[in-house]
Amino acid sequence: MSRDRPCYRIAVLPGDFIGPEVIDATVTVLEELAPRAGFALALERHPFGGGAYEASGHPLPEATKLACAQSDAVLMGSAGGPVGDHPWNRLPRELRVESGILGLRKHLGVFANLRPVMVFPGLEHLSPLKAEVASGTDMLIVRELTGGIYFGKPSANTPDRGLSTDVYERFEVERIARVAFEAARKRDGRVTSVDKANVLDVSQFWRDVVVGVHQSEYADVALDHLYVDNAAMQLVREPARFDVIVTANLFGDILSDLAAVIPGSLGLLPSASLGGSVGLYEPIHGSAPDIAGQDQANPVGTLLSAAMMLRHGFDQVGAADALEAAVKQALADDPTRDLGGSRGTAAFTAAVVDALPRVIPAATATAAPA
Ligand code: NAD
Ligand code: IPM
Ligand code: MN
Repeated sequence: MSRDRPCYRIAVLPGDFIGPEVIDATVTVLEELAPRAGFALALERHPFGGGAYEASGHPLPEATKLACAQSDAVLMGSAGGPVGDHPWNRLPRELRVESGILGLRKHLGVFANLRPVMVFPGLEHLSPLKAEVASGTDMLIVRELTGGIYFGKPSANTPDRGLSTDVYERFEVERIARVAFEAARKRDGRVTSVDKANVLDVSQFWRDVVVGVHQSEYADVALDHLYVDNAAMQLVREPARFDVIVTANLFGDILSDLAAVIPGSLGLLPSASLGGSVGLYEPIHGSAPDIAGQDQANPVGTLLSAAMMLRHGFDQVGAADALEAAVKQALADDPTRDLGGSRGTAAFTAAVVDALPRVIPAATATAAPA
């Protein structure tokens, strides 16, 4: 290995159910890609999620938190138990798996969650929408990730009252708006801010702050506003109209699951959570206990999250492009079953590995070690 070959330390959190399956697939591909693209990876797995709770009494153990903060990037699968009556869902809020996920995001300070939604040209047939509706979809959902109703206080239930608080500070809206405007400048120059300002004070505040940032710093970017209910409808009716969507934590969670199905499946969508010292990369789907252990998990969301890690975290643009191209090639040949294809997780992963040598550009490729 040459002396100037960079080595990136990645904290890998497989999580629960299909989490380890999509992570194993992604690690297999990354280990094939790295030497060909001229860098090395030091991958360290750490306990996280329901399994970590069972083993150590907490879904986000201190050692895992520390390892994540000290790494160059965090790559996560997905964590959580079956929806419905399950022991993990009866734990006190602070010990629930989902609180471990939120705790990690907050700990890393990753307030900007980028969720790109792209219908690859030629793969329109994978969409449940008519091909002419899905065609041209290429949007970036910028979801605020460390504020809003997910974290607002007070938050507590009594036998007679449930309470969560939706709150945004000015600096939180300003910084996420800037992320969206900056992203739009590198794309098609259009931002749609999604809120519920017709009903919620916190949303009117959001809108006013976004407008203020726009007027004072980003007048060159086109800005419009949609109420979240209409935005949900427009996403299905005319997805290709969107460039960058910026929205609050809860709205972004809901709209991104909806948007994931435009290219074909929840299993396709990646994310990068940025803004802190270490980036967090994870697919947007959950742990899918219904299909775990059956070789049915679509690893594409995690593979594309790894591509975002290479691009945003390590500036390895050529390797990121190659990984995305290999995934696209494998999807075009024969996708996973959730997309109507015949491949299981393992066969799909092998197809991505097979495609790699064909998509690594000469400029990126360096001699693989013997
Ligand atoms: P889910 O995303 O796990 O599953 C929803 C549906 O999509 C299921 O039918 C599932 O089989 C399918 N699906 C999801 N990912 C898929 C993939 N990669 N390939 C093929 N099909 C896939 O959502 P849920 O059922 O509401 O939640 C299950 C658990 O996951 C819960 O405990 C929830 O809190 C947790 N969760 C975790 C994360 C995370 O780790 N970031 C995200 C969302 C949900
Ligand atoms: C996601 C998930 C999480 C969220 C949950 C599991 C905490 O749904 O990453 O989209 O709501 O943010
Ligand atoms: Mn979600």
